[in-house]
Amino acid sequence: MFLKTTFVLLAVAFAAAEGTQSGVPIPLNSPVALTKVDGTFDHHRAIVQTYNTRNKHRQNLVNLERNVGRAGFNKGVEIKAYPSSPSLDKRQGLPLADEDGSAWTGTVAIGSNAQNFTIKFDTGSSDLWVPNAHGCMGCGGHKSYDSRKSKTSQPQNGTFQIEYDDGSTVSGPIFKDTVTISGAKAINQTFSASTEISSSFRGGPFDGVLGLASQALSNLAEVRFSSHTAMPCVFNASSWKPPFVQTAFAQQAIPKNEFSLKLASHGAELLLGGTNPKLFKGAIEFHPVNASTGFWQIGGGSILQGGKAVVSGFESIVDSGTSFIFGPADQVKEFYDSIPGSQLFDEENGLYSYPCTGKTVFKVAFQWGGQAWAISPKDFNLGETLAGSGQCVGAISGVDIGLGDNVWQLGGSFMKNVYTVFSFANNAVGFAALK
Ligand SMILES: *[C@@H]1O[C@H](CO)[C@@H](O)[C@H](O)[C@H]1NC(C)=O
Ligand SMILES: *[C@@H]1O[C@H](CO)[C@@H](O)[C@H](O)[C@H]1NC(C)=O
Ligand SMILES: *[C@@H]1O[C@H](CO)[C@@H](O)[C@H](O)[C@H]1NC(C)=O
Ligand SMILES: *[C@@H]1O[C@H](CO)[C@@H](O)[C@H](O)[C@H]1NC(C)=O
Ligand SMILES: *[C@@H]1O[C@H](CO)[C@@H](O)[C@H](O)[C@H]1NC(C)=O
Repeated sequence: MFLKTTFVLLAVAFAAAEGTQSGVPIPLNSPVALTKVDGTFDHHRAIVQTYNTRNKHRQNLVNLERNVGRAGFNKGVEIKAYPSSPSLDKRQGLPLADEDGSAWTGTVAIGSNAQNFTIKFDTGSSDLWVPNAHGCMGCGGHKSYDSRKSKTSQPQNGTFQIEYDDGSTVSGPIFKDTVTISGAKAINQTFSASTEISSSFRGGPFDGVLGLASQALSNLAEVRFSSHTAMPCVFNASSWKPPFVQTAFAQQAIPKNEFSLKLASHGAELLLGGTNPKLFKGAIEFHPVNASTGFWQIGGGSILQGGKAVVSGFESIVDSGTSFIFGPADQVKEFYDSIPGSQLFDEENGLYSYPCTGKTVFKVAFQWGGQAWAISPKDFNLGETLAGSGQCVGAISGVDIGLGDNVWQLGGSFMKNVYTVFSFANNAVGFAALK
């Protein structure tokens, strides 16, 4: 009787939600800006962020090769040497532990006793890790997971590991436990309680990371996927370790196998299990995801300046884990060449500046065959090169982040301008106008 009543209430809740909001909303805190309080560009933070992004994708490709058999299908993609840590002089003497700040964070609870963590939500990776309460190097100052205090904790075989060029890692044992986000509960969710946190995370405003991309990028899974569909072709129950969204959906904790993001300084929200119509207007423009890459990647992209396409026909990966928009160096150069007065600012990190006093004479937008999705001048501007220089650093960076010759990565500077829907159910990414 009790079970039956619960079921009916759930059904009503989902039915009532049709047309209004369905799913579970999670309020997000916004990242540290790349502009300092005095209005100048935070070069140091940008370098650390670029380094972290390149390292993250290197690990993604290593995982992809293990899971799919090759490091993806993008032209020119290869697993390169580790990007070298930014040297001290370039970082103006600051330690790397002064992290990149590019985190949209929310609260995640793990275990029967709801151990709470501040977690970075990252659509550009697939695993969940938090610091371990037992013998963690570099975890000081962060919340840590104590498996002994959770009645539902189950140790697993194997080790989780992300490596960095300075020899540090984020690594540690693997567990299964209940993971709850705003009431959405995934039972027996696989994650790592890491016993080492790389220096690049030590000073961060978050304790751990929750990846929202597909399992093909996971370091926790040991499963052979079909290289065409990214669906597991060898179903091996013991190695099938779905990321949080898939676990929660399979257990009916969320109504749909999808999630949506509104990124904004105020009112940022992750919606698990659907879309929130209060946050967008008009139709959602969907684009098929090329699942073989493991990323939230869509094809046929163009970048527009003043309404005209400057570069066309590239792949785009939507990645909430970085503030920057990264593109291939030659294509980004072509883009800045179309803006009078723009200059190379930092070649190694692909940064350009452009005249930012007086009225803005250019308009930047991305397009995938449908509407042109503009980036506001405010989100494009990362701050003046020097106080009073009249030149500001642009949010588009032309640096090789290792994902291929024709791949762009759209981070927060783009995502703040749209409502983005990530649908595992339909293998698609959708954009809608923010309300
Ligand atoms: C997926 O992307 C790869 C590389 O960009 C391409 O070769 C392949 O045709 C794409 N598959 C689909 C179904 O679009
Ligand atoms: C975690 O946060 C929730 C919600 O704020 C709270 O109810 C719970 O007591 C917290 N857990 C611990 C162990 O403090
Ligand atoms: C770990 O591996 C051992 C030996 O292969 C196996 O017996 C055990 O069931 C595994 N444990 C888990 C939790 O998978
Ligand atoms: C979680 O794991 C435990 C122990 O293996 C098992 O008894 C239980 O059925 C699992 N629950 C779910 C929902 O998978
Ligand atoms: C399933 O995966 C486990 C753990 O990765 C491995 O030990 C086992 O050999 C696999 N079984 C099959 C049938 O592939």
